[in-house]
Amino acid sequence: MAPAIQAENLVKTFGDVRALDGVSLDVPEGTVLGLLGPNGAGKTTTVRVLTTLLRPDSGRAVVAGVDVLKHPERVRSLIGLSGQYAAVDEYLTGFENLTMVGELYQMRTRAAKARALELLEWFNLTEAKDRTAKTYSGGMRRRLDLAAALVVRPPVMFLDEPTTGLDPRNRLALWEVIETLVEQGTTLLLTTQYLEEADRLAHDIAVVDHGRVIARGTADQLKAQIGGERIEVVVHEPGLVADAVAALSGYALSEPSVEKNTRRITLPISGGARVLADAIRELDARGIEIDDIGLRRPTLDDVFLTLTGHVAEQEGEGGEDGPKGRGRGGRSGAEGKGKPGGAEDSDGQGPDQQAVAAGKER
Ligand SMILES: Nc1ncnc2c1ncn2[C@@H]1O[C@H](COP(=O)(O)OP(=O)(O)OP(=O)(O)O)[C@@H](O)[C@H]1O
Ligand SMILES: [Mg+2]
Repeated sequence: MAPAIQAENLVKTFGDVRALDGVSLDVPEGTVLGLLGPNGAGKTTTVRVLTTLLRPDSGRAVVAGVDVLKHPERVRSLIGLSGQYAAVDEYLTGFENLTMVGELYQMRTRAAKARALELLEWFNLTEAKDRTAKTYSGGMRRRLDLAAALVVRPPVMFLDEPTTGLDPRNRLALWEVIETLVEQGTTLLLTTQYLEEADRLAHDIAVVDHGRVIARGTADQLKAQIGGERIEVVVHEPGLVADAVAALSGYALSEPSVEKNTRRITLPISGGARVLADAIRELDARGIEIDDIGLRRPTLDDVFLTLTGHVAEQEGEGGEDGPKGRGRGGRSGAEGKGKPGGAEDSDGQGPDQQAVAAGKER
């Protein structure tokens, strides 16, 4: 079966920023691909190319059997998109926003209204349906934007960080909505920074960094690739961090990472609780006091750290030079990209998303 989404060697530069550096991927019909990557990796740019909002410098893309570059208008009628930047009309109510999208898609008014009510219910917005969107909280807008993308049940959907900004209850509700869609046969490309989310929803995961796919596999395969478990220790005395690393190195599958300012040591291990107990005894025997110690499963940070040599989040904790430092330069071929985080383009996706929702340019 031909893939529902296929990208070959997409390249897109903005000035001297190479946002896409040869992205290739394919999503078989009826499956979910999770596009996982840190800030600035190229996720949104990939989505924008595949949804006809941006022309690549080179490469090829086919969505639902239609060439994206040759027939963008045909592609638009076959896809749904929910962008990273909410695209709702502030001055319309939630109900009016959704009804309008249905009507733009040529649904009859009665059907559009019924669909709007159904979606408001799904996204826990029924009580707020008659308030203008400008009175909505960030999470409510986000949900309304997602609901708008679902009005017409397109066969192929693109969701760019759908759950960013949602609280746990609404995140869970959205996951259920997505699972229902997929059961009904929708093909989905979803970007996320949460491994847990990709884990739950995606059949397959592509890890992107610096505009390239650097790993591909199921969640289990990726986790296996980065090793089973982690011990995390917070040492009480800053002066004893190095001693603690020395004490624990023998248990680590690969080099422990150290955050000096938080006195946190992370070591990949196998052997679970038994090794944890040994580690505690070892530290105790050497008189190294600890504030906290625990065993945990790999996180997205671990995936990035292992695959890319830098952590997912570029903001926050500053300045350490260990393996957890923000060593973008540590990779060969890192061509001095612009700001790794927060360098969003200003043209957002607002009007674009509506254009896609309407199946036509405005
Ligand atoms: N319109 C634009 N003009 C200039 N640079 C851009 C533009 N759009 C994206 N970029 C740059 O391209 C790179 C990839 O950006 P993109 O938005 O695709 O990242 P992302 O993976 O979606 O990141 P995030 O997790 O922060 O949303 C970044 O370096 C970004 O600054
Ligand atoms: Mg993005």
